[in-house]
Amino acid sequence: MKILVVGNGGREHAVIKAIKKNKTVEKIWALAGNGGIAADAECVAIDGKNIKAVADFAAENGVDFAVVTPDDPLVLGAVDELEGRGVKCFGPRKNAAIIEGSKVFAKNLMKKYGIPTAAYETFSDYDAALAYVKSAPLPAVVKADGLALGKGVVVAETREAAIAAVDSIMKDRIFGESGAKVVIEEFLTGPEVSVLAFTDGKCIKPMVSSMDHKRARDNDEGPNTGGMGTIAPNPFYTKEIAAVCMEKIFLPTVAAMNEEGRTFKGCLYFGLMLTEDGPKVIEYNCRFGDPETQVVLPLLESDLLEIMLAVADGRLAETEVKFSSDSACCVVLASAGYPLQYETGFEIALPALKENEYVFIAGAKRKDGRLVTSGGRVLGATARAKDLATAVKNAYALSGRIAFENAYKRGDIGARALAALKEKN
Ligand code: AMP
Ligand code: GLY
Repeated sequence: MKILVVGNGGREHAVIKAIKKNKTVEKIWALAGNGGIAADAECVAIDGKNIKAVADFAAENGVDFAVVTPDDPLVLGAVDELEGRGVKCFGPRKNAAIIEGSKVFAKNLMKKYGIPTAAYETFSDYDAALAYVKSAPLPAVVKADGLALGKGVVVAETREAAIAAVDSIMKDRIFGESGAKVVIEEFLTGPEVSVLAFTDGKCIKPMVSSMDHKRARDNDEGPNTGGMGTIAPNPFYTKEIAAVCMEKIFLPTVAAMNEEGRTFKGCLYFGLMLTEDGPKVIEYNCRFGDPETQVVLPLLESDLLEIMLAVADGRLAETEVKFSSDSACCVVLASAGYPLQYETGFEIALPALKENEYVFIAGAKRKDGRLVTSGGRVLGATARAKDLATAVKNAYALSGRIAFENAYKRGDIGARALAALKEKN
C-alpha cells in the first residue's frame, strides 16, 4: 500500500514507525515531515494546512490511504478534501473535528448529553465576558474557543489575570479569530489523564492511558507547552475509573456525535481530570496527542495500519487492539527557552539505539547532510520496560546520550506517577 501521513512532529514520527511494521506498506510520504522523519518516509514540502495541495498530491501519486494527525488540517477539512478525491482516510471529517476546533461546541455537546465536565459560561460579546469575569469565582479558567497551538487556556488565580485573559483573547485577538468566543469555566482539581481511543463511530476502543507533563519546568512550574514528556500507563487511571469513563464519557460522546449527525471516525482524545466527584472532561482533541503518542504506540502490540483501515471501513469491532502490559516514558528534549524564545540550528548527535529505545524527531531539519535543531520541541526520547520506574530511568539514560547545544529537558517526568504507585503499594 502507498500511505500518506500529514504532519511534521514527533507524533507523526511515532505513527510512521508503527505503520512501517505492516508488511503491505510499500511507500510512505510525509507532508511535510521533518529531518528526522526523512529516515523513515519520503518528506514532501507541502504544508498540511494547505488541504487542496495535500489532496492534489494524494490523487496524483496514487495514495491508497491517508492518515491525517494534526489538528489544523482536520479542522480545516483535510479528510473531506481527500475523500472527495477518492482517497480513503484515517481521521475525522470537518463536521466531527469541530469537537476540538470549537470549545464552545464541545462544552455545549457535553451539557446537552450529560457528559461530566467543568461548569461553564460561553461568551461571544466582549463586554458580557468582561462583566462576568469581574465577579466569577477564582481561580477562573478562560479558554479561547478555537485552536491556539495549545496556548489558548489561562488559569487565572487573580481578578486582574482573569480580566487580562479576556482582554488578550477577545480584544487584542492574540489567537486571531479563535478568540471570537470564549469559554469561562470552573477550576477543577485532581490528577490529569490522557486517554486516546480509536472509534469508527460504532464502537470505541481506548488505548493505554497516559500522563502528559505540560508545564515547561519541574514541579509543574513555568508556562504551558505542547508537552514536555509523558508516561504510560497512568497509575491514577484504575480499572474502576476506566469503567466509569467508558460508561459516562466515552460511549456517550460517540453516541452524542452520531445523534448530532457528526459521526466521529479516527482517534478521539479525552483529556480527563479525576476529581472528587468523578472523572470529568477537560478537553477533547480530534487526533492523537503529542507527546502521548510517543509512549502509547511503542506499547501497541496490534498492527496500527490494520486498526486504522478498520476504523475507516467501520470494522473496528472485529479488529484487535492490544497493548503490552509494559510501561513507557518519553522525555522531550527542547530548545532552551521554549515555549517563548529559543535559538535553533544546532547539530544533533543521535546515539545507536538499544532494544526498547526510540527517538522520535519533532523539530529538526537536514542541513548539508547533518541533522540540526529547527523547533521548540526537538525530539522525544522514549524507553519501554517491564515497569514504570525502569522505563523512566532508561528514558533519561537515553536522553543523556543525545547531544545538541542549548538542549533543555525537565528532570521530573514520571515523578508524580511513580510517587502515586509507591503510595498504592
Ligand atoms: P487544555 O488545553 O484544555 O487541555 O488546557 C490546558 C491545561 O489547563 C489542562 O491540561 C489543565 O491542566 C488546565 N485546565 C484546563 N481546564 C481546566 C479546569 N477547568 N480546571 C483546572 N485546570 C484546567
Ligand atoms: N499533549 C496534549 C495534546 O496533544 O494536545
